[in-house]
Amino acid sequence: MQVKNLTLKNFRNYRDEYFEFDGGINVITGDNAQGKTNCVEAVFLLATGYSPRVRKDKQVITYGEEKSEIKLEASSNYGKVEVALSYYARGDKKIMINGVETKRIGELFGNVYAVYFSPQELKLIQESPEDRRRFLDIAISELSKKYFYSLVKYKKIIDQRNKLLKEADRDMVLDTLPIWDEQLAEYFADVVIARNSFIEKLSPEAEKAHAYLTDGKETLSVSGTVKYYGERDDVVEQVKQDLMNSTERDLVLGYTTIGPHRDDLKITLNGEDVRIFGSQGQQRTAALSLKLAELEILKSQYGEYPVLILDDAMSELDVARQKRILEKVEGVQTMITCTGTDASVFGGTDYKLFNVSNGSVVR
Ligand SMILES: Nc1ncnc2c1ncn2[C@@H]1O[C@H](COP(=O)(O)OP(=O)(O)OP(=O)(O)O)[C@@H](O)[C@H]1O
Ligand SMILES: [Mg+2]
Repeated sequence: MQVKNLTLKNFRNYRDEYFEFDGGINVITGDNAQGKTNCVEAVFLLATGYSPRVRKDKQVITYGEEKSEIKLEASSNYGKVEVALSYYARGDKKIMINGVETKRIGELFGNVYAVYFSPQELKLIQESPEDRRRFLDIAISELSKKYFYSLVKYKKIIDQRNKLLKEADRDMVLDTLPIWDEQLAEYFADVVIARNSFIEKLSPEAEKAHAYLTDGKETLSVSGTVKYYGERDDVVEQVKQDLMNSTERDLVLGYTTIGPHRDDLKITLNGEDVRIFGSQGQQRTAALSLKLAELEILKSQYGEYPVLILDDAMSELDVARQKRILEKVEGVQTMITCTGTDASVFGGTDYKLFNVSNGSVVR
């Protein structure tokens, strides 16, 4: 997968800018607050519809403007693709894929595949299960649109179910729950099965990536907390049973206590919980290993590497780890942002340099 170019109009601090990327390493450098992250954020938005930093679309529109437009052209084994997004200050957005408008954000997945890593990704290790679920959900959606749509439906039903659980009329609630759960179990099962199969692939790849980055000194282990196995029909039946068994507790607590919205990933380093015992550097390396594992999984699905975005990722790692990353990304289109000073890491490696200043590429 290669992103050929990127056009930004009224996107954050960019008024009108064009990037023509190299198929290998692209280094986007510049002082703080000049637009390095903004540039790679746009690439990830076009790939997934997700911003690595905000949840509110409107925030990307240049202050005071009505509309922001971003567009990229990419080529993959499947041919050329053009993806464009427009964000409007009134709150809506427009999605165009190869010149055809689509209303469904999920349609973005599978056109441009990308993996994003930044120091913020430390959240993946340190913070709440929600961050780890988010990682899983974006990664799996990039592999399967169907997963994204199942998840959307699952969350919708969970919201409705949780509202129902808070109703005062217990008889009505008990009559209605089985109707919801009939539907819920289907999406629940789809999400669980997809996560299980992803974690099965993630686990050995993450272990391998981490061993590589640490020169075999550390063993990273990743596992899920989900306990459903077998054919889809069996999982659906188990889920229905479990939902029924948890009804009493759900009613007391007023929300659904089991399901994918409560999952987590367990991450250990040499057998210890990395969240509690890992150093900053170890945690960062573990987070990076998860992302490199995602890279390999995407590759095995699509037959080629996705675009790798390393936003400010190098500065926090020691030189040995930086060098190993650069070795690792050979043959992967990579976008690396860094401030001027740490560009020295790239000595000896070929790369295309973009010097960004105040929302413009210095030519
Ligand atoms: N909607 C917006 N409209 C105009 N400017 C914006 C908007 N959103 C963010 N900015 C500006 O973009 C700049 C930050 O850009 P960015 O995050 O890309 O910096 P950076 O080059 O990655 O810096 P650092 O080295 O600190 O990571 C800030 O000055 C911020 O005010
Ligand atoms: Mg930045």
